[in-house]
Amino acid sequence: MYDSNETSSQALASADPAVVRLVQITDCHILAGAQDCLKGMNTRASFEAVCQAAMADNARLDLILATGDLSQDASTASYQYLAQRFAELHLPLFWLPGNHDDGCTMREHLCGELIFAAKQVLIGNWLIVLLDSTIKGEAGGLVSADQIDFLEASLRSHPRRHALVCLHHQALATDSEWIDRLGLQQSQTLIDALKSHDNVRAVLWGHVHQQAHHRRDGIEWMSTPSTCIQFKPGSKTFALDDLPPGYRRIDLHANGSVDTVVERLVDFAFDFEDS
Ligand SMILES: [Fe+2]
Repeated sequence: MYDSNETSSQALASADPAVVRLVQITDCHILAGAQDCLKGMNTRASFEAVCQAAMADNARLDLILATGDLSQDASTASYQYLAQRFAELHLPLFWLPGNHDDGCTMREHLCGELIFAAKQVLIGNWLIVLLDSTIKGEAGGLVSADQIDFLEASLRSHPRRHALVCLHHQALATDSEWIDRLGLQQSQTLIDALKSHDNVRAVLWGHVHQQAHHRRDGIEWMSTPSTCIQFKPGSKTFALDDLPPGYRRIDLHANGSVDTVVERLVDFAFDFEDS
């Protein structure tokens, strides 16, 4: 039984003590059938192309973060497929659920020797906290009081570690009305909690299928493209962007600084239905 209030922790050693190197993939929207498409895009094909690009220099990577909407239909087949593909990456991978996912099915099938539903990762000088912002049956999200308590307890327990906090829904609003209506309820509660601890360096999410990066209150706030379809920034109503699928590389330096870049697929032929 998936319990979003469970507080499992995982400790890892980074390959380089000076920096933790990771890749974030998000919003893979994998479907049960190998040929199934989302808005005209085969999400397995785009996901596999992103993984191939992201792993080009995987000897330098310490871990992967997968930040929700990993499945489109929450099917057992989609999670079994992801577990197989993730196992082939041979890196520790930590996931959290998105609004399209089913936490229980995920927990049952998205597992493996290096695949974790851990809520907290300790690596190098860093603490990585993974929050569950989903509300069962709803597209929008909420970081519940229990999750806020867990976050604050985790930050308090590791005051000397720099912290990266991850969730599915956008901690900061975009300038896109429709997706912000499906964003995080009571987001200010989360923002206030993050700002009240002086070891939070970065906050990371998916859900918005677009890239953004803000620096506010000494914290990096980042969203990342989907591994499949992209949403058009600034659009009041639902609209797709023609940018290719992507992912984010993040270097967490021992001194608390963060270097990051979004990479997108090149030479990936795709089409989509913008409706
Ligand atoms: Fe998504």
